[in-house]
Amino acid sequence: MVYSLDDLPTGAKLAVIGNPVAHSLSPEMHNPALKAAGIDTEYIRVLIENGEVKTALTRFRDAGFIGINCTVPHKFDALESVDHLDPQAKRLGAVNTVVFAKDGTASGFNTDGPGFARAITESFGRKLSDLRVLILGAGGGAGRAVAVQCATEGVPHLTLANRTTAKAETVASEISSYYPSDQIEITPLDHLDLAEIDLVINATSSGMKPEDAPIIPPSAFTSHHLVYDMIYAPSETKLLADASAAGASTANGLSMLIHQGAIAFEHWFPGCSDPTSAMRQGITSALSAS
Ligand SMILES: NC(=O)c1ccc[n+]([C@@H]2O[C@H](COP(=O)([O-])OP(=O)(O)OC[C@H]3O[C@@H](n4cnc5c(N)ncnc54)[C@H](OP(=O)(O)O)[C@@H]3O)[C@@H](O)[C@H]2O)c1
Repeated sequence: MVYSLDDLPTGAKLAVIGNPVAHSLSPEMHNPALKAAGIDTEYIRVLIENGEVKTALTRFRDAGFIGINCTVPHKFDALESVDHLDPQAKRLGAVNTVVFAKDGTASGFNTDGPGFARAITESFGRKLSDLRVLILGAGGGAGRAVAVQCATEGVPHLTLANRTTAKAETVASEISSYYPSDQIEITPLDHLDLAEIDLVINATSSGMKPEDAPIIPPSAFTSHHLVYDMIYAPSETKLLADASAAGASTANGLSMLIHQGAIAFEHWFPGCSDPTSAMRQGITSALSAS
């Protein structure tokens, strides 16, 4: 079910906004977490037209909403529309979580990067800050968020690869204001060398379809590598299957989806008990039903 600003149900005080928004699985994560925490409200999908984000925030605030998540294409307009901006959201140039305070102000956060860092620790038992990282698709929205997080955490070396190299160069230039330039490398996708890499991240959308050719040849992986594919449907891409066959440790993007949601939940309900288990159950059954 998708709502509009004119038909917000009174029992809902949380929402994801997007255009389109029907595909968003956020309600399937947040509603089980709300139920598990005994919080009596509903999380809904609301379609917001492009250019209407600022108006929408005022309407949500006036309706007593606790907060919202923003998905494509509203993450950039949300950044311009909030009263207070978290420094990490500013670095990322995008807001995916808004919290409405009792005084009526709206604060903007981005939980994608921190959610990714938690996912790496959960998946591999390693801290992101200890790993030499290669990001495939560093110029896309997800890859950029991961690059900013890696730079913020001070990874020892960061290699950026993107089909359109100019986009990786833009990201490198942006992060070089707070991350040493001599620790950044830009590599074409067809000249990848994994010898000095610990963690490989696929942040491209390649791998979602069975016919997609893997971006890295299977022979490049060894048992040293940790390989994280941000794709979670299918649960094992060809890239992950190849890496796993070579003895690498692998994980898909489900953990990042859950942790970025959990961090948003923590912003809305500070001190709440860990929502990840309820979120995991909810999203897993939604994915298996789809
Ligand atoms: N797990 C999570 O929580 C999570 C969160 C966000 C996104 N994701 C996933 O991350 C992926 C990227 O999402 P996004 O929002 O960043 O999309 P996006 O902004 O559209 O970026 C897509 C990226 O994929 C690259 N790409 C697409 N097809 C390619 C191909 N055939 N070969 C090489 N590179 C290719 C693009 O390169 P160009 O720049 O050259 O076009 C770009 O870097 C999607 O699979 C999405 O589902 C997961």
